[in-house]
Amino acid sequence: MATPSRALLLLLLPLLAVATSHPSHEFCAAGGGDSGAGCSGGGDGARILIKGGTVVNAHRAEEADVYIEDGVVVAVRPNIPVGDDNVRVIDATGKYVMPGGIDPHTHLAMEFMGTVTIDDFFSGHAAALAGGTTMHIDFVIPVNGNLTAGLESYKQKAANAAMDYGFHMAITKWNDEVAREMEVMVKEHGINSFKFFMAYKGSLMVTDDLLLQGLQKCKSLGALAMVHAENGDAVAEGQQRMIDLGITGPEGHALSRPPILEGEATARAIRLAKFINTPLYVVHVMSIDAMEEIAKAKREGQRVIGEPVVSGLVLDDSWLWDPDFTIASKYVMSPPIREVGHGKALQAALSSGILQLVGTDHCTFNSTQKAFGSDDFRKIPNGVNGLEERMHIIWDSMVESGKISITDYVRVTSTECAKIFNIYPRKGAILEGSDADIIILNPERSFVMGAHAHHSRSNTNVYEGRKGKGMVEVTISRGRVVWEDGILNIAPGSGRYVRMQPFGYVFDGIEKSDAAYRASLRAPVQRGKAAA
Ligand code: URP
Ligand code: ZN
Ligand code: ZN
Repeated sequence: MATPSRALLLLLLPLLAVATSHPSHEFCAAGGGDSGAGCSGGGDGARILIKGGTVVNAHRAEEADVYIEDGVVVAVRPNIPVGDDNVRVIDATGKYVMPGGIDPHTHLAMEFMGTVTIDDFFSGHAAALAGGTTMHIDFVIPVNGNLTAGLESYKQKAANAAMDYGFHMAITKWNDEVAREMEVMVKEHGINSFKFFMAYKGSLMVTDDLLLQGLQKCKSLGALAMVHAENGDAVAEGQQRMIDLGITGPEGHALSRPPILEGEATARAIRLAKFINTPLYVVHVMSIDAMEEIAKAKREGQRVIGEPVVSGLVLDDSWLWDPDFTIASKYVMSPPIREVGHGKALQAALSSGILQLVGTDHCTFNSTQKAFGSDDFRKIPNGVNGLEERMHIIWDSMVESGKISITDYVRVTSTECAKIFNIYPRKGAILEGSDADIIILNPERSFVMGAHAHHSRSNTNVYEGRKGKGMVEVTISRGRVVWEDGILNIAPGSGRYVRMQPFGYVFDGIEKSDAAYRASLRAPVQRGKAAA
């Protein structure tokens, strides 16, 4: 392998290493003159031919080769001839060639609960690419409610990005200036979604009044409204109740914010979105209660998108009762990871289309940061890892077990996200003209996850010791091989911001249902003057 540049090596050494059964953990410097055997990712101009694999898109799987040039897919068909020597040929016989994952929900370099998430845009991207995710959408948090200042701050944070990313924007206060800035974000900065936190009282939480104004504004801009659905007032009550009972440990986190508070807020947000007649995206659906509200709304024809996250699908809350604080606290996230039973129900809802796409809510804190709440669970920074693990866990728990097809795997991990946020088919597909964001997954290889092997900067991992089948052997990002044979070949600053246009497919026809609503009113009634 080539000698990694010193700066890059220093950046990467604390991270280490490959979340697989690869024995060695190595990195290459990207794009430089020092790349050699094993570090031959090539630049944007590289020509790559992936031969002999099964190409899986959300609409179909087929035996085909994929030819890539200048970071773009040029051809997808069987038996593409090799052509000349300057084409790198990758043998994918017996493997699946799929669109790189797109994670709709991450928090990199986020200031939260008095600290900053341990993964920034570089270590987060290292983790993502090693796990087969080639794009994510992060949440910009306004600075004192100001969206422009928030965006500026996140542009700085993303300066060391190593893969493609987009932004959602949180709305934390309301006035005319915020409403104007929302328009600027959509029209000038390629942001087409806004998130409203119904929890985190005293910091990010919004009132119903603000949520209503926000939903209305989102609708007028063709931007998707997203909610963190928990009743924040009731959560504050529940937290005080636990403290009064002397329950100060991580189990108090789950006990203070039970599923009914998630169900209530989900139902409230759904009804307000119905009143405004605008699409709604519910992030991190963690409970049966919330999922059933979404199912009911969908049955009634409402446009509601439900996003489960990996932790909610495969973990349960028993960890929060672990006597070791370091272990228990790493599972603290909001809404909480639920009791046994919720995860299986969420998996079934994902299989049947009630829930549509899988995120991670990657929001990682190390054990020192988690220890801020060692004598009060309310101070434990909320969040878990998942960016590196998502593609492997969903393959192992859903495809290997026969719960979803391989085409549905591509849909829930990539295509649906690209469609919802209006970047399909540039992203989320292997079609002529799509960005060459591609993974090659070997269904016969197995993995073992854990902090010893991951690329996150955290010293803990909520999937510690988890074993499974199906391994991403190669990740190609915009036509560059960035992950191969357990070696990352990435450079800070090589990632690109992806603009997302408003009025995606979830808005199609909204104006017709508005017109139907107005026609249904049978009002105003023309009346004569009432007698005095
Ligand atoms: O615990 C969580 N989910 N942390 C990240 C912030 C959020 O609520 O999405
Ligand atoms: Zn949230
Ligand atoms: Zn989140």
